[in-house]
Amino acid sequence: MTAVRTVHVGGSHPYAIDIGPGLLGDGARLAAHARGCHALMLSDSQVAPLYADAVAAALRAARPDLELATHVIPAGESHKTLATFTGAIEALAGLGATRDATVYALGGGVVGDLAGFAAACWMRGIDCVQLPTTLLSMVDSSVGGKTAVDIPQGKNLVGAFHPPRAVIADTATLRTLPPRELRAGLAEVIKYGAIRDPQFFAWLEREHAALLAGDDAALAEAIARSCEHKAGIVERDPLEKGERALLNLGHTFGHAIEAEQGYSGGGSEALVHGEAVAVGMVLAGRLSARLGMASDADTDRLERLLQACGLPTRIPAGLAPEALLARMRLDKKNLAGRLRLVLWHGLGQAVVVPDVDEAQVLELLAG
Ligand code: NAD
Ligand code: GLY
Repeated sequence: MTAVRTVHVGGSHPYAIDIGPGLLGDGARLAAHARGCHALMLSDSQVAPLYADAVAAALRAARPDLELATHVIPAGESHKTLATFTGAIEALAGLGATRDATVYALGGGVVGDLAGFAAACWMRGIDCVQLPTTLLSMVDSSVGGKTAVDIPQGKNLVGAFHPPRAVIADTATLRTLPPRELRAGLAEVIKYGAIRDPQFFAWLEREHAALLAGDDAALAEAIARSCEHKAGIVERDPLEKGERALLNLGHTFGHAIEAEQGYSGGGSEALVHGEAVAVGMVLAGRLSARLGMASDADTDRLERLLQACGLPTRIPAGLAPEALLARMRLDKKNLAGRLRLVLWHGLGQAVVVPDVDEAQVLELLAG
């Protein structure tokens, strides 16, 4: 087996992120994080048929005494809801899960966020092991303990901070990932370069073709470097009191687009999360230029890389600027009713800007 790369997240709830091919077949590694005798594997209708049986078999071989149930939700953002959350909680109740139970989140960010939230709430908090199967969830959502579901009014508005007990990223699962989802994950990879690492950004400019082609070594490098960035930030600021907000570059715009278009799923044409973030990052760069904080040159460079990765960079047709702005007013970063956005002074220099002028945002959205 190729070497496993491990990134450590420190702080008051330390854990390891293991990255490598074939890890879902490593029963001992998976079972090492099951403290009690109950485990619930939560997955979705696209991922479960591909991997759930193998994970269950590996876990059972390593821990024959484990009472393991599998709960499958329909795939897609439109199912990251309070209703599917209730279903997950009922599955834990049905299992008779006690406080030492473990939730295994097998899937992308939708499954990870939902499973993490269910684990945060069941008996006021049980262990969650993240088994991310999308590029996006390997580089971002499985790390850092943000858990949530969407409501019609906005993305991720109901949730909790609940760090995972471990993250085990089997990079071989990326081979079955639809190309569109691989591209969407690259948006969050590019985000790390954009907010704080121009060298990584330049590496992505050189390597994006290899990444798009699914090159194992390039993907492993991109995942490990992204996780190192995220681990450092969430270790220093687990509850987003400061620098963690920078990880939301493009997200206030992106979340508004996602909520306004109706969450993707069920074959809809709506942008998926990573695509919406790609559009949002370009909007954040353009707004920074409008406000005199940066030149447009770095945003042009960002837009070129996103486009080279097959990502959208413009707001989809048919979304009203006023409606998007109204969505942005409900963003979790806002304080005292003022728009608080992550903007930049240029590549690698993201900053949080409180009290952004809404008229400027509206003009940008309309333009
Ligand atoms: P997703 O979970 O919807 O997965 C995308 C699609 O790919 C789904 O249809 C899924 O079934 C399928 N899929 C997953 N793995 C597969 C595989 N290996 N092979 C084949 N198909 C596979 O989307 P995502 O992009 O992984 O995650 C997006 C979500 O993550 C959003 O809800 C977003 O808000 C959230 N998010 C959370 C954080 C956080 O810090 N908690 C950070 C970023 C994003
Ligand atoms: N994805 C943003 C964060 O984890 O803070």
